[in-house]
Amino acid sequence: GRVCLAYSGGLDTSTILKWLINEGYTVVCFLANVGQKEEWDAVEKKALAIGAERMVILDLERELVEQLVWPAIQCNAIYEDRYLLGTSLARPVIARAQVRVAIEHNCDFVSHGCTGKGNDGVRFELAFKACNPSLKIIAPWRLPEFCARFQGRQQLLDFAATEGIPVSSTKAKPWSIDENIVHSSYEAGILEDPNTTPPKDLWNLTRDPQEAPDKPQHFTLFFDKGVPAKLIVGEEVITDSVALFKRLNLIGFENGVGRIDIVENRFIGVKSRGCYDTPGLTIARQAHIDLESLVMDGKVRELRDQFCTFTWSRLLYNGMYFSPEREFVENAMLFSQKNVTGEVRMMAYKGNVYVQGRKSDASNLYSAEEASMDSLEGFSPMDTTGFIEIQSIRLKKYGDQKIKDGKP
Ligand code: ARG
Ligand code: SIN
Repeated sequence: GRVCLAYSGGLDTSTILKWLINEGYTVVCFLANVGQKEEWDAVEKKALAIGAERMVILDLERELVEQLVWPAIQCNAIYEDRYLLGTSLARPVIARAQVRVAIEHNCDFVSHGCTGKGNDGVRFELAFKACNPSLKIIAPWRLPEFCARFQGRQQLLDFAATEGIPVSSTKAKPWSIDENIVHSSYEAGILEDPNTTPPKDLWNLTRDPQEAPDKPQHFTLFFDKGVPAKLIVGEEVITDSVALFKRLNLIGFENGVGRIDIVENRFIGVKSRGCYDTPGLTIARQAHIDLESLVMDGKVRELRDQFCTFTWSRLLYNGMYFSPEREFVENAMLFSQKNVTGEVRMMAYKGNVYVQGRKSDASNLYSAEEASMDSLEGFSPMDTTGFIEIQSIRLKKYGDQKIKDGKP
């Protein structure tokens, strides 16, 4: 059979590659460029040296930014109050591309190196099945024979030595990293003790806020229907989506914006400690929430917060991107964004980002005149007496009852 394997060049997937070949499979390796730092040529050389038929590397940065990150910003996506879903956003894009590659190269199987305990295996496989139900899946870390043979890192290293698989001489970091244009995640290893403070050299995408410049960085972010459309930083004007997002990442990096250290609930029910640095998305999300406050109807906002933000984030986390409910929620979300056009002036400074002002011509909902404490234009203060009177009907009954019950 022919297999398309998600190959990273690391010890795990190199072992899987060789193992698949030894089992008699022909293997097409696939690596997605989603904005991570990588030695692309070295990975390709290694795959071919181990015996892959070919190595396919696809640039998916734009697809990730425009199709996943922009909707995430439009609905202020967030999981369990803190995680901005950096890994969850990339998975659908990677899986969909892997299916494309598998079909193009006549594979009947797709394979990956995810463990049986994480979210990623679930996400990849739900996406594979949704994108092409006829592809069969090989998940070596869930095969008894594979697990029995490779019980720890030492057995992987022994296998690499006998099979002539080159192992990187740089000492592996004592945690696992997943990096893309949105974030870098750090889990496992020494981080498994939730009381261990992440070491200073862990963070890849943000500078330590304590070492950030003493001078604030000012910039203006423009939105068009909730999508970042233009970024102005001093003399620089950036409109290209990928370039704009990378520039936000750089602002976040320099000023140490977007670090979190959390314990989260994985889809399968296990708790897991993870650290994430998400510079650009943290900034864009803040700006977007702020612009919405100016232009969005209050009741729409309330419903959107309860329904779109929560549901979209949850379903992305759970690997349900290719589902009817995702399309359903996105349609409601798009309606909520029709007036989210305008600009937010911001300042990044020592680990934080601050809004300095906002402006929009897209909505007439905010009126300085109406909100003013000094003017009585528009309605009479006497009307408010009735408003309070009507609002209090139920409350007065409830209060009476409490007094009767002797528990005021
Ligand atoms: N816990 C995060 C998530 O589920 C990050 C997962 C990182 N994945 C990895 N293979 N290191 O989205
Ligand atoms: C894994 O178990 O493969 C990584 C962690 C995760 O997917 O949550």
